[in-house]
Amino acid sequence: AGLNTAAVAKGQLYFGSATDNPELSDSAYLTQLSNTDDFGQITPGNSQKWDATEPTQNKFSFAQGDVIADLAATNGQKLRCHNLVWHSQLPSWVSSGTWTNATLIAAMKNHITNVVTHYKGKCYAWDVVNEALNEDGSYRSSIFYTTIGEAFLPIAFAAAAAADPSVKLYYNDYNIESAGSKSTGAQRIVKLIQSYGVKIDGVGLQAHFIVGSTPSLSAQTTNLAAFTALGVEVAYTELDIRMTLPSTSALLAQQSTDYQNTVAACVANVKCVGVTIWDYTDKYSWVPGTFSGQGAACPWDDRLVKKPAYTGILNALGGS
Ligand code: G3I
Repeated sequence: AGLNTAAVAKGQLYFGSATDNPELSDSAYLTQLSNTDDFGQITPGNSQKWDATEPTQNKFSFAQGDVIADLAATNGQKLRCHNLVWHSQLPSWVSSGTWTNATLIAAMKNHITNVVTHYKGKCYAWDVVNEALNEDGSYRSSIFYTTIGEAFLPIAFAAAAAADPSVKLYYNDYNIESAGSKSTGAQRIVKLIQSYGVKIDGVGLQAHFIVGSTPSLSAQTTNLAAFTALGVEVAYTELDIRMTLPSTSALLAQQSTDYQNTVAACVANVKCVGVTIWDYTDKYSWVPGTFSGQGAACPWDDRLVKKPAYTGILNALGGS
């Protein structure tokens, strides 16, 4: 069995991968992405972000996001929708606009209402707010936080819930995969939203890791339990494990162990619904473009051949 088949047999909802529009013209890539034995869920890596969906105020463009949503529907895959409110990949009318508390709240609500309504019934979950925290657990000084204050979080979740009462609403961030200030900050966000009487269904742990320094299985299970104790589900939403190139057999073996431990942590928590890798092949990974000299972060290599990491994941899912 493949990764998704094994995950579902373990009681999870899916095993999935991110993708992006330009890659879909690669037919070998598309064939494997569409293989539901391995992938029961996909996430658009860019085409639902604010710069893509509302490049000009109140002029919405869903064509690129719809390509991914339609692909998921055609394949019978769940769609994780990503994302509504983030400090990055904002159109300049938002990031460089002149805002008051009232006008930015209105613009943010209008964005959320339109995008969530457009994709209503098509998403398993929305990443409503992405990466609101600094490493020390304080709020990042985004246009949203500096203009609105922390209330931007419950306001955003309330707008999403009003537009689609059925979709799962997530807070999503990185470096929250083991105990520490930032994970504690994400737990504070869950409690903040709940304190407003607003719905939050889940926390997404991105899990952009480095080979040989991923948190241990027990550190990850303890951390997941701290979230699920608050009454939310969890998911690993952007898992990849990069290395300093060139890749060696020793690094690939360590990477396999590291993937196995993270997937095993999810399997160990009944409220961890699934794992998404941030694209499945090194051919289209974001890592080399961001971290010079690093890469080979995905379970398939740049020729779409499975690496030892694939077997590590399958082991964690109890498959063979
Ligand atoms: O669309 C332009 C294109 O017109 C231009 O020719 C080209 C030249 O550089 O750039 C294109 O934009 C790129 C965009 O991806 C679409 O491909 C940006 O430069 C590039 O920075 C952007 O990177 C994305 C990144 O988010 C931006 O922060 C990655 O593909 C995407 O995988 C990555 O995903 C994020 C998650 O959303 C949140 N968590 C972290 C994760 C990794 O950074």
